[in-house]
This record gives sequence, structure tokens and C-alpha cells, in this order.
Amino acid sequence: MANEKQVTYWNEVAGPKWIKVGDTLEPRFAAITDLLLTKAALQAGEAILDVGCGTGPTSIRAARQLAANGSVTGIDISETMLNVARQNTAGQNNLEFLLADAETYRFHPASYNALISRFGNMFFGNPVAAFSNLRTSLTLGGRICFICWAPLSDNPHWHIPFEIVTAALGPAAPRPPHAPGPMAFADPTYVHGIMADAGFTNIAITPHHVPIIGNDIETESQIACSLGPASALLDEKQANPATRMRLREEISSAFTQFDQADGLKLPATIFVITATNG
Ligand SMILES: C[S@@+](CC[C@H](N)C(=O)[O-])C[C@H]1O[C@@H](n2cnc3c(N)ncnc32)[C@H](O)[C@@H]1O
Repeated sequence: MANEKQVTYWNEVAGPKWIKVGDTLEPRFAAITDLLLTKAALQAGEAILDVGCGTGPTSIRAARQLAANGSVTGIDISETMLNVARQNTAGQNNLEFLLADAETYRFHPASYNALISRFGNMFFGNPVAAFSNLRTSLTLGGRICFICWAPLSDNPHWHIPFEIVTAALGPAAPRPPHAPGPMAFADPTYVHGIMADAGFTNIAITPHHVPIIGNDIETESQIACSLGPASALLDEKQANPATRMRLREEISSAFTQFDQADGLKLPATIFVITATNG
């Protein structure tokens, strides 16, 4: 299997963590999800593929927007996450979920008008092969619109916790550049090359500064220690519970600067990537 390590990771490690923080994630990603759906410009009646759909939040939003004669398929390698997606959407008949690797799954050619993804496209072992394969699923003139993270330094909600954990526990082990993971597509030149090599045209990569609408400081520091680069470093260093608690408190203190009269807003930067098939 092409992405065997990712299958294990998203079923046994990251999937359960995402499910645990579950309901707290959607409000904080509201601005990002709105941006994805605006830029994807889905039309009633279209067939849409949501790549790396996880527990299905963007699939559900897209299905609502398409009305009954449209359809959404969510594809994901994590049965753990798809089980939640299926529970959340029981009885909704313009929505289905497919347990498969988007890099290698043999799609019926030209079966979707558009592909969307919120943070589900950065984990492929061979991104050119994956996007070439995904392109075969698009109609001629079909489009892709997806969201990925800009560099860590432009994402204080992750950078600050990562720096705190690094200062306490030491740097992360070196990784190959662009290794699959949340920051794999942080270099627009690299992403442009992948999309072009995969045969896409009209490629546009646009940075957007979006607030992550924080729940409260405690929840945000907990999320920073559960998902993303600081969490990965804590796991890599096998930090014990007492160390985790101490660093979480440090992260909470650092986040107070973002707690304003109108709520907790953590600055973030994402890229919206759009392209067409032919
Ligand atoms: C960061 S999560 C995003 C989940 C969801 N899109 C969201 O925004 O809530 C990344 C998702 O990509 C999925 N994924 C990773 N590699 C994949 C692959 N090769 N094919 C399909 N899904 C994949 C993971 O299982 C996970 O659900």
C-alpha cells in the first residue's frame, strides 16, 4: 500500500485525537471552511469529491450547498474517522463515504465536477502520482480547490507552542523537506510544481490570513498539545504527563496576548489552491 504509515497514523494516532477534540474544531475553522466553499463555487447538481474528508465536516457543508440533485463523496484512509462521518450523516442521501487511498484508488474517469479538501491533501507519499490520479476523476474542465497551511512562522497558533516545546525538550529530528505532514505544502513553488506535473492548468496559490476563532485559552492550549507540530514533538520526545502539563500552562500564558475584548482569535495563514483539469 502506498501510504501504509499514514493509514496506521490516521487510524490509530491522529484519528482518535481529532475525534476527541471533535466538536471544538468546527467553530475555530469557521473562517477557513467558509473560504474553501466560497472559492470552490459549488453549483447545485454538481458531483463533488472531498479528499481526506476525515469526520466529514466539509462534506456535510458541501452536500447542503449542492441541494438534493448534487452529491458529495468523501474519501479517506481512516476508518476511525469515517465511522464518525457515517454516524453524523446517517439518512442523508446525497452524501457517501469511501474508505480508500486517494493516491491509488481507481476512480471512475470523469465522475466529479470538482474536488475539494480542507487540510486533507498534504499526506501523500507521492504527491504528483496522487494529484495525477485525482485529476482522472475530474470531468474535462473540472476544478480542484483545496486548503493547506502556509509556513509555520506565519501560523502563530502552532508556531508559539512549537517554540515552547522545542525550547524545553530540544529540536525535532531532521525530516526530509516536504515530508508528508501538515506543513508539507507550505512552499508555494513546490506545490505549483506538483500541480503542473500532475497535469493541472490555471493553477493559483493565494495566501489568506484567517483568524482561528479560539474556544478559550485552556481549550486552545490543549488542542495545541493534541494536534499539529507541537503535539508531534511532544510525542517524539515521549514527554511525560507532568512535562506536558507544565508546557501546556506555558502555552496558555503565551496565548493570552490573543484574548481580546471580541474573543480569542489566533492568527493563522493558509493557502487556497485552485486549478482546472484541461
Ligand atoms: C488534517 S485531517 C483533515 C480532515 C478533514 N478534511 C477536516 O478538515 O476536518 C487529514 C485527513 O486526510 C486523510 N488522509 C491522509 N492521507 C490520505 C490519503 N492518501 N487518501 C485519503 N485520505 C487521506 C486523513 O486520514 C485525515 O482524515
